[in-house]
Amino acid sequence: MSHHDHEYEEVSGIKMGKRKVPPYLKAVYLILIVWAVGYALFMPGKLVESSSAEVSLDRGKKIYEGTCLSCHATGVAPDLKGVTNRYKPDEIESIINKGRNTMPALGQRFSEADRKSVVEYLETIK
Ligand code: HEC
Repeated sequence: MSHHDHEYEEVSGIKMGKRKVPPYLKAVYLILIVWAVGYALFMPGKLVESSSAEVSLDRGKKIYEGTCLSCHATGVAPDLKGVTNRYKPDEIESIINKGRNTMPALGQRFSEADRKSVVEYLETIK
């Protein structure tokens, strides 16, 4: 046996590869880890589902476009334009919260501030 490194190690007569994980695979793992952590940290803020503690028109618009419109602009549900002329803010909040007939309750998904944000936004699209 010489002293320099062999590429194979013989174990019970079977030749086993002794090479390390190739650098490109390490790079791939690293990129995947960075991506996964970044995704976990930043995505929830982008999803409409996550709730916010602040009332804002911008947030209301995001929720409206990201959630409400998926039904309310497809013929599945009535158009929400001008809905604030027909309902009081707390009535709309209650519909969001508890649902109504075929509209599912969305109370779990949105905080009180979120519901107020949506109503605030609805006021702007009469
Ligand atoms: C999964 C589909 C769906 C989503 C998502 C949805 N809705 Fe609805 N919504 C409905 C349906 C269906 C009705 C009609 C219910 C009925 O017949 O009483 C309705 C009714 C309403 C009404 C009463 C409208 C009227 O003219 O009587 C309001 C207000 C309302 N939705 C607000 C919202 C808001 C605000 C959002 C977003 C936060 C939202 N909805 C998301 C399906 C949905």
